[in-house]
Amino acid sequence: MTKIFKMDCDNIDENDLKCCGAILKNGGTVAFPTETVYGLGANALDPEAIKGIFTAKGRPSDNPLIVHVTKVEDIVPLVEEIPKAALRAMEAFWPGPLTILFKKSPLIPQEVTAGLLTVGIRLPSHPIARGVIEAAGIPIAAPSANISGKPSPTIAAHVVEDLMGKVDAIIDGGDCEVGLESTVLDLTGEAPMILRPGGITKEMLEEVLGTKVLEDPALDKISMEGATPKSPGMKYTHYSPRAEVLVIIGERTAVVNKINEMKQKYIKEGKKVGIICRDETYSLYADAVAKSMGLGSNLSMMAANLFRILREFDSTDVDVILAEGVEEAEVGRAIMNRLIKASGYQVIHV
Ligand code: TXA
Ligand code: MG
Repeated sequence: MTKIFKMDCDNIDENDLKCCGAILKNGGTVAFPTETVYGLGANALDPEAIKGIFTAKGRPSDNPLIVHVTKVEDIVPLVEEIPKAALRAMEAFWPGPLTILFKKSPLIPQEVTAGLLTVGIRLPSHPIARGVIEAAGIPIAAPSANISGKPSPTIAAHVVEDLMGKVDAIIDGGDCEVGLESTVLDLTGEAPMILRPGGITKEMLEEVLGTKVLEDPALDKISMEGATPKSPGMKYTHYSPRAEVLVIIGERTAVVNKINEMKQKYIKEGKKVGIICRDETYSLYADAVAKSMGLGSNLSMMAANLFRILREFDSTDVDVILAEGVEEAEVGRAIMNRLIKASGYQVIHV
């Protein structure tokens, strides 16, 4: 049975926290909000507890988990070494939406890293996430709290939909602010490399690290092109709603025209069309279910709404979703990465 805890960020009930901490300590699974997306936590040092995560999510066992801590010194026993660049990145961006890869120590079980020699570690800023991890008193492995293949949950209702009856507890702590998963940064190679774009952008990292930051060249490539992403999770076509998704990229008016043209074609074929757009273009789409990510000038707002919109389309009967691309500046890079993955790499340039 899954126990549901309702928590208020500004007034967290200490007893409920203790209860969730105890579940984790005893090898159970607890879903909790973080500033990025909801996570499904378990004791990172206990292989049996880790299996509980993989089973509940239906996650492929070759996809490693991120370990969450609340104090920088907590990472010392978990890693072989802390490079200087990592110290700088941690100081600038922790607590927050940045996961850093380190060479793992023997304390981290194989099950967490899917056999890799590196471990991803993150120090979240969300008060409930921090409270639960502290109450457990152990490092907590936590992937996004969705069934494998579905968009990451940004509200508790998404977690309930996916994991009710499959985990020990779910904490309902409101909406996640960032709405996209953390940036994954690999500092174990010759040059810093982003394996998954997120809220902490390449530009922000370059400024703090004082050096060029690369991006995994395989990120947005079709797997058929023979490129394998370094982050195992990035090779799956997930984030996918039930409907087919196509992303249309280009100058704004041309994109709107193209989407309306494609929409007519699909309607003629008897298909129902959904559209993902911005506030500015929302009124330009008739005869379709249009959902706006927010103001085009506010990339953070669009990021925060994307996964919720993808999930909302699952409860409609649309067959095809036509999505406006966004500019790849700042967090727009992460939005496009998730949109392109949701589309199974079906991108149209106009
Ligand atoms: O924002 C987040 O990171 C959320 C919250 C809950 O913290 N967690 C999250 O976890 O998104 P998950 O498991 O859904 O995504 C983790 C990603 C996967 O793509 C995985 O392959 C990659 O990070 N990853 C984890 N450890 C890795 C490693 N040692 N080497 C390469 N990639 C790794
Ligand atoms: Mg995930």
